[in-house]
Amino acid sequence: MIKVILCGAAGKMGSFVAETCEKDSDIQIVAGIDKLNSGQRFPIYNDFSKLNVSADIIIDFSHPILLDGILKYAMANNTAVVLATTGYSDAQIEKIKKASKSIPIFFTFNMSLGVNLICSLAKKAAGILGDDFDVEIIEKHHNLKIDAPSGTAIMLANAVNSCFNGEKVYEYDRHSKRQKRGKNEIGIHSIRGGTIVGEHDVIFAGHDETVTISHSAQSKEVFAVGSVKAAKFLSGKKPGLYDMNSIMNFE
Ligand SMILES: NC(=O)c1ccc[n+]([C@@H]2O[C@H](COP(=O)([O-])OP(=O)(O)OC[C@H]3O[C@@H](n4cnc5c(N)ncnc54)[C@H](O)[C@@H]3O)[C@@H](O)[C@H]2O)c1
Repeated sequence: MIKVILCGAAGKMGSFVAETCEKDSDIQIVAGIDKLNSGQRFPIYNDFSKLNVSADIIIDFSHPILLDGILKYAMANNTAVVLATTGYSDAQIEKIKKASKSIPIFFTFNMSLGVNLICSLAKKAAGILGDDFDVEIIEKHHNLKIDAPSGTAIMLANAVNSCFNGEKVYEYDRHSKRQKRGKNEIGIHSIRGGTIVGEHDVIFAGHDETVTISHSAQSKEVFAVGSVKAAKFLSGKKPGLYDMNSIMNFE
């Protein structure tokens, strides 16, 4: 039985992860971390200093502000971490990479298999279509999302950019400029509204033809299921930085 501390337990994703774990006899949530208490079946603490249970893995869908506390606890207690929160700064991502030298960390901006598949397809398309096609990414999410662009849009842009030696520049705002699109850009655009779970389009626009690679999530459950799959994968692993490519071969 894999014992889990669920960080962000009272949130929307926290509830889906709790539901997913309840249906799975191999995994059990022993405690949650959240500043709110949503009446879950396990005890909820508002920070790691109050925890008095041990666990094998932390699953985190919360807020970037909690990163230091998660890594401090995980390194002190040799606990593996599934990090699904988005909106980390570059400095925080460096901290995650550094921590992964001493504990196993699974880190991805998107826990769905479908998004990880289109990431690989976008990379393949960029490699084939090259500089003749302009790349624009559109992401759509619900009106409660706090970070923009989505971590997934960045993940898709990075996958495309890896085919250009990382030389493409990300353009988030054409409003403040009056100039035509540069050849060296990847445009990234965010739409926020209603209850949209998560939609991503990677558009390759060439001369007289357009290729669009799309993914649409119909429920947040797909991310919860992915995080539980990641937790099971991480159990017993050596320190290191893992992602969906470590589980599925998307190459
Ligand atoms: N990687 C993925 O596949 C994926 C998928 C969906 C959501 N996410 C990310 O997961 C995160 C959570 O998403 P959500 O929709 O559940 O959001 P949410 O706002 O419903 O839940 C976040 C929870 O974190 C708690 N929290 C925030 N700050 C805290 C603090 N300082 N101390 C203790 N608790 C705190 C909140 O009380 C809340 O219950 C976001 O960053 C979101 O972008 C990632």
